[in-house]
Amino acid sequence: MTNSTEIRKEDHIKLCIDKNVRSDKNFWDDMTLIGENIPDVSMEDIDISSVVAGKQLKAPLIIAAMTGGCNLAQDINKRLASAAQKFGIGLGVGSQRAAIENPALVNTYSVVKDFDIPLVIGNIGVPQVILSPDIHKLFNDLVQMIKADCIAIHLNFSQEITQPEGDLIAKGFWEKIFPYSKEFFLIIKETGSGLSKNTAKKAADHGFRFADIGGLSGTSFPAVEYYRAVEKNDIQKQNLAKLLWNWGIPSPVSIFETKPYLPIIATGGIRNGLDMAKALALGADAAGIALELLAPAYSGMEQLEQKIESIIQELKSIMFLTNCKTIRDLRKRRWFTTDDLYNWLNGLNYNVRQN
Ligand SMILES: Cc1cc2nc3c(=O)[nH]c(=O)nc-3n(C[C@H](O)[C@H](O)[C@H](O)COP(=O)(O)O)c2cc1C
Repeated sequence: MTNSTEIRKEDHIKLCIDKNVRSDKNFWDDMTLIGENIPDVSMEDIDISSVVAGKQLKAPLIIAAMTGGCNLAQDINKRLASAAQKFGIGLGVGSQRAAIENPALVNTYSVVKDFDIPLVIGNIGVPQVILSPDIHKLFNDLVQMIKADCIAIHLNFSQEITQPEGDLIAKGFWEKIFPYSKEFFLIIKETGSGLSKNTAKKAADHGFRFADIGGLSGTSFPAVEYYRAVEKNDIQKQNLAKLLWNWGIPSPVSIFETKPYLPIIATGGIRNGLDMAKALALGADAAGIALELLAPAYSGMEQLEQKIESIIQELKSIMFLTNCKTIRDLRKRRWFTTDDLYNWLNGLNYNVRQN
């Protein structure tokens, strides 16, 4: 361990495995898909292959950005990459900032280059883009480090504001990024607070080509920072982190906010193939999963492969029960919403209870 970014990365992994870092409510539970009693499709004919960000995936699943930048991360990234190859799915690495600041850490990310993965997504935060003296070089370095097909620019200000060392540099971002959005395939990515309509529209206007909505329902980064503030005995940050524990736009709502502007990876609280099917039914191109895959990836290859295999089988089972042969069919299936999710959608004038 040589710098504070590395220590922080390791803290995040351990806290996410050991503690409850989830938002209090998972809003996917307020949505129900309506089945078909006699499906007119056989299990063997169900085809879940999908094109996401121009790449052919065997399933519409992305292992969402989690790690890199510390020794522990290297093994985890290697396992995630091996699983992405085996299942033919997408893979995002965690923020590459640590390796940009300290080239000795490049290996903790570049390990993914040893695998044949259909879609590899790089990752960097808004403050690092704004502060970079040469954004073109920064993006080239990010791409080359992992042979990335796209770069996700992550938004995590609800976390930064609860971190004693947080970077609150955001002003002027859109002007800075615009000149590079033609040459590089950019994804605008939230990390648990859900992309809003305004942000999605601005991102589309500034040349972003995809959105990872990263909505409220799963990992809460204020929750992660709460535990770090407790360890540091920082009462003010503890209180702020508790206050913001459930900050943000629920994942299903964020799909509605974003879909008029950009194609979507739906991340945030996806636990299984049923949640995936719901996200796809609402119009996402793919689902992204972080937390549910972290503990299996930490434990070992067998645990991780079993987990992904189950999720894929669950998705296929739901497709059978809803009479869907392809992912496209899922978009036409009936669903309804209840409780908080119903109130959110109607409160924002989406006026849906069902379709
Ligand atoms: C341990 C951990 C580390 C993460 N690090 C990053 C990161 O470096 N960059 C990023 O864009 N998102 C990061 N995320 C956020 C995830 O990509 C995802 O948006 C968020 O966790 C919501 O998905 P989930 O509910 O499936 O966990 C991280 C998530 C976890 C659990």
